[in-house]
Amino acid sequence: MSISHLKISGIRNLQAVEFPPASRINIISGQNGSGKTSVLEAIHFLSSTRSFRTSELRHVLTQGQEAALVFSRVLAPGSTQPLPLGVERRLNGDVRVRFDGRSLDAAELASLLPVQVLYSGTFELLDGSPSIRRQFVDWGGFHADTQFIQLWRGFRRALKQRNSLLKYGKIDRFQMQVWDREFVAYGTQLTAHRRAYIDALVPQFERILKVLLGDVSIELKFYPGWDSKRSLEEVLLDQFEREAAQGFTLTGPQRADLRFRWDGVNAAERLSRGQKKLVVSALRLAQGQLYRLQSQRPCIYLIDDLPSELDEPHVRLFCQFLEQSHDQCFITCVDPDTLTEFWSPDTDLALFHLDAGHLTCRQR
Ligand SMILES: Nc1ncnc2c1ncn2[C@@H]1O[C@H](COP(=O)(O)OP(=O)(O)O)[C@@H](O)[C@H]1O
Ligand SMILES: [Mg+2]
Repeated sequence: MSISHLKISGIRNLQAVEFPPASRINIISGQNGSGKTSVLEAIHFLSSTRSFRTSELRHVLTQGQEAALVFSRVLAPGSTQPLPLGVERRLNGDVRVRFDGRSLDAAELASLLPVQVLYSGTFELLDGSPSIRRQFVDWGGFHADTQFIQLWRGFRRALKQRNSLLKYGKIDRFQMQVWDREFVAYGTQLTAHRRAYIDALVPQFERILKVLLGDVSIELKFYPGWDSKRSLEEVLLDQFEREAAQGFTLTGPQRADLRFRWDGVNAAERLSRGQKKLVVSALRLAQGQLYRLQSQRPCIYLIDDLPSELDEPHVRLFCQFLEQSHDQCFITCVDPDTLTEFWSPDTDLALFHLDAGHLTCRQR
């Protein structure tokens, strides 16, 4: 899907922002604090009912407002008939997602309008906690295979039950065996899906990294969460005494992670900030490209402050890559002149400017 019309109300400092995005490249410029990241936040909200900056709605809501509402018209690939999609969340907890006259649940919305976000917090994919990398892998798993969500939920349930048995001491052996079986069955399948996803992602990642950052080669490896030379069943048997003493499940798929190495060294320790930005960008772009390959549907890219940390040649390479991707992009920057010269005249491009929450269209 791509967005052909967007109307934002009740988000941060944005003042009745309404505009028709271009089908390909949208550049949104403005000074610090003008609301650029908030526009991307609003599109993310439309795609998932959530912000990427905070988990608390009250921070996203314009001060004094009770509700955030993003209304859009979206186009399926190849279609010329836009369909209405609206997402509203209220301070009292109500969430409403309406698409073409019916309500959608969270999973349906996630499949309808997948987005990839690149913003300052995305660096955490390299040097943040493993849970951020698991979310990244599981986003891919979720979109690659409809079975994935069942496996993920089944595994979470088994893990939660095991942990509560371990935590409250007096372990009922029979109950434990039941949850161990579920843990192993779901955990093994979940891991196979995660591994298959990363196997498919690696060639995309390497290809894009070569374009964006030719002289750096990063080895990306999946770690399943336990010593994979052994079965999950053996691992549970082996660690049971220690788990009983500590009161929670030790190793397993809940500890899965990704490892990035450059010349055999942890990449996060070696890369400069600009290089990190390009590596993380290559990962997110690879995820979007793989999504397109697997589902035949496009992803929307939200790229906050594209030029920051990058020199001109790398900004150019980044823009060239986006132009060739055929996907819809929303790109923000402080000075529009840093980004306007890289696009071919045939590319459907729109320029917008934000001034204290007011958005205006600019001539190309
Ligand atoms: N809940 C809120 N209500 C009203 N204004 C807000 C809220 N949260 C942030 N702001 C203001 O919104 C402005 C836009 O922030 P942001 O989108 O991060 O700007 P930019 O990305 O252009 O630098 C900032 O000036 C900030 O002070
Ligand atoms: Mg910003």
